[in-house]
Amino acid sequence: MGKNEQIDGKNRIKTYIKELDEQMQGGIPANHIVLICGTSGTMKSSVAFSVLFNEVMQGKTAMYLTLEQSSKSLAQHFSNMGFPLSKINLLTLDNLAQVDALVKSAKSSSRPSLIMADLGVVRKMVKSVKIGPTASWMNVISNIIRKAKQANCELVVLDSLSALYILTKFEHPRTELFYFFEFLREIGMTSFLISEMPLDKKKYGAYEIEDFLADGIIKLDLVERQRKVTREVSVVKMRGTRTTIDVFSLEFANGAFKALYGGQPPLI
Ligand SMILES: Nc1ncnc2c1ncn2[C@@H]1O[C@H](COP(=O)(O)OP(=O)(O)OP(=O)(O)O)[C@@H](O)[C@H]1O
Ligand SMILES: [Mg+2]
Repeated sequence: MGKNEQIDGKNRIKTYIKELDEQMQGGIPANHIVLICGTSGTMKSSVAFSVLFNEVMQGKTAMYLTLEQSSKSLAQHFSNMGFPLSKINLLTLDNLAQVDALVKSAKSSSRPSLIMADLGVVRKMVKSVKIGPTASWMNVISNIIRKAKQANCELVVLDSLSALYILTKFEHPRTELFYFFEFLREIGMTSFLISEMPLDKKKYGAYEIEDFLADGIIKLDLVERQRKVTREVSVVKMRGTRTTIDVFSLEFANGAFKALYGGQPPLI
């Protein structure tokens, strides 16, 4: 445990970006709702997965809900990146009725469990509940998260809000999002919502309320200086936490993220 951890008695979840946690009192306060935003290819999914994987390795149960890539292709990507998936019990949720069986299997396994759910399971449920397109996706996703909580999941990733917006026809997006965030807050899980930023990077979320509804915002970036492109990370906000808003270079090597400050920026 780092010396800065629990400095204020708060239970914190590390970002597992080395050197960044040290800059934010050890990590994210548990039960926060955190937006992970960035343009395409900024490693949003990988940063979120890295948190879950490492927390699961500590014995927690977590769920990664992907509405973009399938669970299978995402797991393959994370495995290629060097996350030793064989060390955990990676469970794929295909159908919500299976959840109880999955929980049982999670409990009886000697390895800690990470549950992956993808669009396939959501689609099956949307069909089976036979509700109109409006808000049904939202309800189904809330139900899956509720089930995850019953399965003792302490962390959840939704990848991504942007995909959810494509699937859901909101009548009153700002109100519906407000209630969705309220739901996440009440359920008491640390939630990571991935948000794909437009290329002009002017908004953290499509409806421009995600940023104030969220407790924390981690921004990932690709910055071009001459022809050299560097990955960057910054903590735009983190409620209840003394943090810097400085921008760090982000490195991924040997299966782990690291933030560098003033670390060899390319010469201009
Ligand atoms: N060791 C590595 N193995 C595989 N990909 C890597 C590695 N290091 C960096 N990457 C980069 O990670 C990127 C993909 O990461 P990830 O899927 O997490 O990004 P993302 O922001 O979620 O992307 P998307 O916008 O497609 O959802 C790829 O563009 C790849 O270049
Ligand atoms: Mg992604």
